[in-house]
Order: sequence, then structure tokens, then C-alpha cells
Amino acid sequence: MKNTQGILIPEEIRQRVLNAKRVVALTGAGISAESGVPTFRGADGLWQNYRAEELATLHAFRKDPELVWKWYDWRRGIIGKAQPNPGHEALVRMEAFYPRFTLITQNVDGLHRKAGSRNVIEIHGNLWRVRCTEEQKTFYLEDVPLREIPPRCACGALVRPDVVWFGESLDPELMNRARQALVSCDLLLIIGTSGVVQPVAGFPAVARQAGAMLIEINPAQTPLSPLCDFTLNGKSGELLRELIPHAVY
Ligand code: APR
Repeated sequence: MKNTQGILIPEEIRQRVLNAKRVVALTGAGISAESGVPTFRGADGLWQNYRAEELATLHAFRKDPELVWKWYDWRRGIIGKAQPNPGHEALVRMEAFYPRFTLITQNVDGLHRKAGSRNVIEIHGNLWRVRCTEEQKTFYLEDVPLREIPPRCACGALVRPDVVWFGESLDPELMNRARQALVSCDLLLIIGTSGVVQPVAGFPAVARQAGAMLIEINPAQTPLSPLCDFTLNGKSGELLRELIPHAVY
């Protein structure tokens, strides 16, 4: 039976998803779209005519920390009001259902944890956490809106969002954990990512090489689509619930 998006999930996929044992879900901004959080590369991802690539860099921060923090303050304002959607919730149920389940997210919005997911690798950091640019210590700063822009550490130095910006390396420990999960999974779900930002865009190839089945959920085709066994071209909220009714209900 087709769902409200007119998508039929083939029985073969359902069975293989049901029988999987070691599952990894890789998520991007698309999973939070149904919570009202703008994606980066959609038209709604623009902020005052800036693209994410122009603001999410160390260069931009050094040049104009106030501008960069105003962008983060805007995003924190939206995300602070957002609630997890059925897609986030389905992944929480999956974690309880499968013997091994790892969630790797590029999202910095914290909505997976808010929904109740536990084994989450926030590979690009978290926008509620900040890092002192002098002492490098991290702490949570959850004021919305921020009381001062740009915000400062008690030591007087500027703080920056504890997220990975373009041109920066990912935390080696998190990369290692992600890699371990990818090489040992039998099913990888790729949800709501445009698949263009490295190194995460290379993760599906790692799982594929290790023999995993790859299923993508995204209303659009992506550069990752040709690598996948199946692409379900629709929104993740409804589709994830349908894909794993055994875990969700
Ligand atoms: N369900 C599933 N996917 C969706 C939905 C939805 N309801 N709505 C949109 N999408 C898809 C879009 O088709 C697009 O392919 O989500 C994807 C979002 O892509 P991006 O905005 O590029 O987000 P993402 O892939 O997470 O970006 C990667 O880029 O700017 C950096 O660090 C930032 O982590 C981010 C990284």
C-alpha cells in the first residue's frame, strides 16, 4: 500500500531491514526539516543572503565574530523551539530494537538526544556547546537569545560554537567510533543528507565496502544515491516509521 507521499516500500526492503542486526543511521539536516529547522542547502537555509559556507569558517569568525554569532543566535532561536519529529522518534525505537545500533549525525541541533537517542555520535559537534578560544575548555551556553554577542568566557576571551567548521578536522576519537560502526554494520540508513560534505560523504562507501546494505531516505536524489541499494524519495518522518513498524509500534 502506498503512503501519503505515494511511496511504496518494497516487501524485500522491509524484510531485510527487519532481519538486520547491526545498524547504523547516518543523518543530516533533512531529518530535522520536519521539526521546522532549515536545511543548509535548501533555499530556506539562507540567512540574510549569506550561505552556510560563508559563515561556518574560522576565517569568517576571526574577521567578524559578531556576524557569525548573530547567525548562530538566529539558528539557536529556531532550534530552541523545535521539537523532535516522528523521524527522530523512529530512530529512538530502532536503538531499542536492534542488538547494535549507532547513530552518526552531522546535525549540531541536539534533537536526536532530545528525542531520547543515546548512542549518538555528533560528528560535527553541538551548537549548544561553546569553546573558549584561549583556554580551549568547552561548556554549555544555552541562553536564547544570547545575552551578549559575541559571547565571552569567564577569562574574558571570545568563545566559539563547539562545532566543526569548513576546513577544520573532525575529532579523531569520534571518527574512530564512527568508522568502527560503519565497518561492522549490516545495514546503513542514510537519512536527509545531501552527501556533499567530506569526510562524512565518504562514510557510505566505507559501509558498502564492508558489505552493508545501504538505504537512503531523501526527497531528492543525491551523489550518494547511485551507491545505495534503495533510495526512498520522500520525507524521513513518515518513511522511517513505515520502514520499521516492528520497532516503532
Ligand atoms: N526528510 C528527509 N530528507 C530531507 C527532508 C525530509 N523531510 N527535507 C529535506 N531533505 C534533504 C534534502 O533533499 C537534502 O538532500 O536533506 C538534505 C539536506 O542537505 P544539506 O542542507 O546539505 O544538509 P547536510 O547534508 O546535513 O549538510 C552537511 O554541511 O553546512 C554543513 O556542517 C553542515 O552538517 C552540515 C553539512
